[in-house]
Amino acid sequence: MYLQLNNISKEFHDRRGNVVPVIKNFSLSVEKGDFTCLVGSSGCGKTTALRIIAGLDSPTSGQIILNGTDITKLPPEKREMAVVFQHYALFPHMNVYNNVAFGLNVRKLPKKEIETKVKNILDVVGLSGLEGRSPNELSGGQQQRVALARALVIEPKVLLCDEPLSNLDANLRVQMRAEIKSIHKKFGTTTVYVTHDADEARFLADTVVEMKPIRIL
Ligand SMILES: Nc1ncnc2c1ncn2[C@@H]1O[C@H](COP(=O)(O)OP(=O)(O)OP(=O)(O)O)[C@@H](O)[C@H]1O
Ligand SMILES: [Mg+2]
Repeated sequence: MYLQLNNISKEFHDRRGNVVPVIKNFSLSVEKGDFTCLVGSSGCGKTTALRIIAGLDSPTSGQIILNGTDITKLPPEKREMAVVFQHYALFPHMNVYNNVAFGLNVRKLPKKEIETKVKNILDVVGLSGLEGRSPNELSGGQQQRVALARALVIEPKVLLCDEPLSNLDANLRVQMRAEIKSIHKKFGTTTVYVTHDADEARFLADTVVEMKPIRIL
């Protein structure tokens, strides 16, 4: 198994210091190249689970294994994962090109190689020609494509998506989900994708996993 969550639990502390359990003994197995959709009711811990996989939050207990290695304590930048959020979180002061090139610049790749990679990925997501635009000159769908391109261009080991289409209108959502599927076919990136849209999950996923809310007595 490529990515495994073993008995992950997460507790937060509220302002009074009380323990708030959010995830209890959640396990997940994802095969390499698989598209797994994580579904479940609002507040059941889907975003928290993604953040734990990405290393943005640490679990209270349990383990995360990637390709046979325990990465539970590894910082996010060493996990070689990419996250696409519901709110695109593009850098507002950077144009499309620089938004997409960001992760490659951080990794200090040669300029020519960055140019080629950015050009290819913009082609794949259908944004060629818009390199010079800034995010506020793009539609919601275009912004989400930039976010997707920015995530994919670093060729992450795992792509994590948190309801990336929920800000888009119904038509665009259906169009974008088809594009996401064809992009996944092309790249075969191991993906964990959170959605509360059962249709979207059925359409996209090789495997659908339902997260159950924990019962607080
Ligand atoms: N930093 C935090 N501190 C305290 N509680 C938190 C924190 N983050 C999340 N929670 C709580 O954890 C629970 C799960 O939140 P999470 O965002 O993971 O749910 P979700 O399944 O993604 O919900 P939605 O479908 O609405 O996005 C919620 O009850 C939330 O209030
Ligand atoms: Mg959420």
